[in-house]
Amino acid sequence: MNNIISPPSKWVSEMIARIEPGGTLIDIACGRGRHSIEFSKKFFIYSVDKNNEFLNNLKNNMNIKTICQDLENQQKWSFSDKKFNVVLVTNYLFREKLNAIFSLVDLNGYIIYETFAIGNEKYGRPSNPNYLLKKNELLLFKPDNFDTIEFFEGIKIENSKKSIVQRLFAKRIS
Ligand SMILES: C[S@@+](CC[C@H](N)C(=O)[O-])C[C@H]1O[C@@H](n2cnc3c(N)ncnc32)[C@H](O)[C@@H]1O
Repeated sequence: MNNIISPPSKWVSEMIARIEPGGTLIDIACGRGRHSIEFSKKFFIYSVDKNNEFLNNLKNNMNIKTICQDLENQQKWSFSDKKFNVVLVTNYLFREKLNAIFSLVDLNGYIIYETFAIGNEKYGRPSNPNYLLKKNELLLFKPDNFDTIEFFEGIKIENSKKSIVQRLFAKRIS
């Protein structure tokens, strides 16, 4: 990633537009905060990343709390006992903590997940299967207490860049 903050994902913005404003959104592995910044107009944001330099961009925003945390080591997440109205993950995958990510969603809250999927290796990085969702993986992994609102896998063309992605927008119903 360079210093320029990319625009928000169009699909993510469309899903956010369908959610009533207010409450909290946690942006998991937020990077430089393209989504945290945009959606801080609508929610109180918890922006989590291991890279403190990225988080520095966000620290002056009154609607954003930054959390510098390695999401993949043995340490308990400082926010793991909290629930959020929206859990957002984009362009990040660490399978061992997928369940923990779904657990952050409050009752009647939402998960919005968009990341690279198998086939993306034809277009560039990531090409390591550890970072590429398998066919229907988010759908198959989704706990039973979530209703799928939208699921997609296929090509994404945004900012003249092609990639293969998988997307899940789901609501926790019990
Ligand atoms: C490709 S960027 C995506 C950033 C943002 N979600 C977006 O879509 O613009 C991946 C992000 O994951 C973060 N990351 C990678 N491994 C991490 C870990 N173990 N703990 C916390 N953050 C991590 C990186 O620092 C980086 O900001």
